[in-house]
Amino acid sequence: RQNERESLLIALNFAKTYFQELMQQTDEGKSIGLSYFRERGFTNPTIDAFELGYSLDQWDGLLQAAIKRGYNPDMLEKAGLILRKEADGGGKTKTFDRFRGRVMFPIHNVSGRVIAFGARILKTDKNQPKYLNSPETTVYHKSQVLYGIYQAKQAIRQEDVCFLTEGYTDVISLHQAGIKNVVASSGTSLTTEQIRLVARFTPNITILYDGDAAGIKAALRGLDMVLEEGLNLRLLLLPDGEDPDSYVHKVGAEAFKAYIKQHSQDFIDFKASRWLTEAGDDPLKRAEGISDVCASITRIPDLLKRQTLSQRVAQVFHVSEQSVISEINRLLRKQQ
Ligand code: CTP
Ligand code: MN
Ligand code: MN
Ligand code: MN
Ligand code: MN
Repeated sequence: RQNERESLLIALNFAKTYFQELMQQTDEGKSIGLSYFRERGFTNPTIDAFELGYSLDQWDGLLQAAIKRGYNPDMLEKAGLILRKEADGGGKTKTFDRFRGRVMFPIHNVSGRVIAFGARILKTDKNQPKYLNSPETTVYHKSQVLYGIYQAKQAIRQEDVCFLTEGYTDVISLHQAGIKNVVASSGTSLTTEQIRLVARFTPNITILYDGDAAGIKAALRGLDMVLEEGLNLRLLLLPDGEDPDSYVHKVGAEAFKAYIKQHSQDFIDFKASRWLTEAGDDPLKRAEGISDVCASITRIPDLLKRQTLSQRVAQVFHVSEQSVISEINRLLRKQQ
């Protein structure tokens, strides 16, 4: 088992280097892959730090190169690098590369070893997914991984906060702008394992999701999970239509940091401001809002924190602290 794990990691590392060399040294790689990253404003040190690469638009470029170097196709398949399909009739199988003609984002574990890839198409094409990702393997469990954690961990400790974004390019562009305490959940909804991974380095998470409907929904879903793990949470939605990548390119690093300072909210303000806008002076809607914020508070394991936060809720909604406390207790009883 341990042996297979190590074999897969070695094969994945070979693939990473292969994709890097293709991008740096071949005409196709340079004119398509490297220029794609250039257009997105990525510099050489950034491309190196994230070990970005390019996969040739061929059926089995990686497979052939790996076989030549003595790699076993079974291992390549177990690593998620190649696919085998029954050709029609005759029991013959076709073997080919999973990633073809895409820019490659290696996904590293905490200790910096490549465990999977994300791969982006270059042009928008409605018939193809924008990103293609490695499947679950012995070494890659999507729900346990945060993109960028290896490059970010030191800065997360230093800054004592982790910025959580949605995507690969958000992590990379912020890192390039000098904001290095950033990871991405890579489009999936946040998991408890991912939150515990962050907790190894800091008790503070700031969610920076895309300013679209999907981003808001994801932020609300992630919120209670972060609280449940006992971490401190702030949230920020980028202006509509922007993500951290596009926004930091637009305004620059300093203005981006200032924007986070000014606009990030704790979870009470984040939820309350949405409820108060929606409710206007409809008392029933306001009550619904109070109950919703209280429900999040019941997630917090620490009793003292819950009590302090009850005061905040009372202030924000202009109700008595006692009514907030009774609502929290009512919800807690209901959960038992
Ligand atoms: N994602 C994915 N598969 C898709 C679309 C998205 O795995 N078909 C994941 C990727 O990890 C992506 C993240 O979800 O980085 C966020 O998606 P999105 O905001 O659509 O992509 P961006 O990261 O903004 O990518 P880009 O700027 O290159 O368009
Ligand atoms: Mn496993
Ligand atoms: Mn989005
Ligand atoms: Mn983007
Ligand atoms: Mn995005």
